[in-house]
Amino acid sequence: MAKMLYSVTMSLDGFIAGHGGDMSWLTEHIGPNPTVAEFIPQIGALLVGNRTFGGDDPHRGTEKEGKPFGGGWSGPQFILTHNAPATAVPGVTFVGDLDSGVTAAKAAAGDKYVNILGAEVARQCLEAGVLDELLVFIAPVLLGDGVRLFDHPGGTNIKLERLSLTHAPSATNLWLRVVS
Ligand SMILES: NC(=O)c1ccc[n+]([C@@H]2O[C@H](COP(=O)([O-])OP(=O)(O)OC[C@H]3O[C@@H](n4cnc5c(N)ncnc54)[C@H](OP(=O)(O)O)[C@@H]3O)[C@@H](O)[C@H]2O)c1
Repeated sequence: MAKMLYSVTMSLDGFIAGHGGDMSWLTEHIGPNPTVAEFIPQIGALLVGNRTFGGDDPHRGTEKEGKPFGGGWSGPQFILTHNAPATAVPGVTFVGDLDSGVTAAKAAAGDKYVNILGAEVARQCLEAGVLDELLVFIAPVLLGDGVRLFDHPGGTNIKLERLSLTHAPSATNLWLRVVS
């Protein structure tokens, strides 16, 4: 049975996208990272929010633009949106609600991970009790504004257990399990 994992690069001050969705800050922090290399073959499917799908790309202007992990991974992608485009996109399935997206992505992933991309989708998965793990690549940068890794107005208290802590020149990697 596939596990659900939210993987993301985060600034030290907790942002996954900069002001206005800017992702150019990330470009210089993409580099060799053994934890990323270890994780990518374990991904069976992606569950992606539509703001991530249609948003800025740290590979903008290069041949890697628009490709998951800059072309380092390929496979079935499920995009959550209330406004699926009329034209089909190869390799991509648009899904209109969380339950359908989780079910379809898990079925496609087999015994590998469903990798969640997008903070809004990850938050909904946490609240629905279907998020198993987080893999956070902490980049040495402060952004001051943007999209938070996790946003819950009024606060909450979700317990996490650290599975591993590793270091690469580009990032510090924290692999965590959601404690249910
Ligand atoms: N630092 C990193 O590693 C990293 C990784 C990925 C993304 N990002 C950045 O993070 C930002 C996106 O994150 P985000 O939290 O703003 O948005 P998101 O989770 O990527 O997407 C949210 C959108 O997904 C759709 N959606 C969400 N839940 C749904 C549901 N239950 N049913 C149907 N559709 C649903 C809606 O799209 P519609 O409005 O179309 O209905 C919603 O507006 C972007 O700026 C992206 O570049 C950063």
